[in-house]
Amino acid sequence: MARYLLTAGPTMEAIDPVRFLSNRSSGQMGYALAAALVARGHEVCLVSGPVNLSTPEGVTRLDVESALEMLAACEAEWPSCNGVFGVAAVADYRPRAVSEAKLKRQAGEDLVLEMTPNPDILATLALGKGSRLAVGFALETHNAEQEARRKMSAKNLDYLVLNGVEAQGAEASAVELFSQQGSRHPLGPMPKARLASALLDLILGPNNTSSHA
Ligand code: CTP
Repeated sequence: MARYLLTAGPTMEAIDPVRFLSNRSSGQMGYALAAALVARGHEVCLVSGPVNLSTPEGVTRLDVESALEMLAACEAEWPSCNGVFGVAAVADYRPRAVSEAKLKRQAGEDLVLEMTPNPDILATLALGKGSRLAVGFALETHNAEQEARRKMSAKNLDYLVLNGVEAQGAEASAVELFSQQGSRHPLGPMPKARLASALLDLILGPNNTSSHA
């Protein structure tokens, strides 16, 4: 049995006390993977952005909003984990300054929001992973395979799961699993619960333990 860290859902980046920037991630794939890991007898620490999903039984869930909060929660858990699955759709940027007061409308004037980059959570964890497992997810619209392989190397990942654009918010999806060793494995379309299980069969292997952990 191993302990896995899993990020899921979107992040929510505050603009002022009542407004934020976010994305359309539903969290379904991450939650399906968390449930599939528990079904295989593993422990899961799920660091989740705001989603409308119930926590799978047996999963320890830590709720966060922003990318900075997600990173802090992950860094606290990572030392006690054997691997990480980065399924969250982390906002690449956040507003440089969060206004303490609600922004007021200035009739007829443009509003310019200055944005600053968020840390790359999965890359931060994976760069110091040693022999532990690190798996990323990506959604690409152009040069998908080339981008998938570039991200896998740049973030020091063992596997990268490439999603189709139609996966967002959908019940079912088709993916391709790329490995650092050079393999490429298409899966689906199938419901996300089955897809999660099929991905784990390939990543953790028949004896259900990653060779990395
Ligand atoms: N990721 C992360 N932290 C970020 C950005 C991405 O942990 N700030 C993780 C995601 O959870 C995912 C993987 O990195 O597992 C790839 O995410 P993606 O958004 O495709 O990567 P980016 O490096 O942000 O590339 P892009 O410029 O295409 O958005």
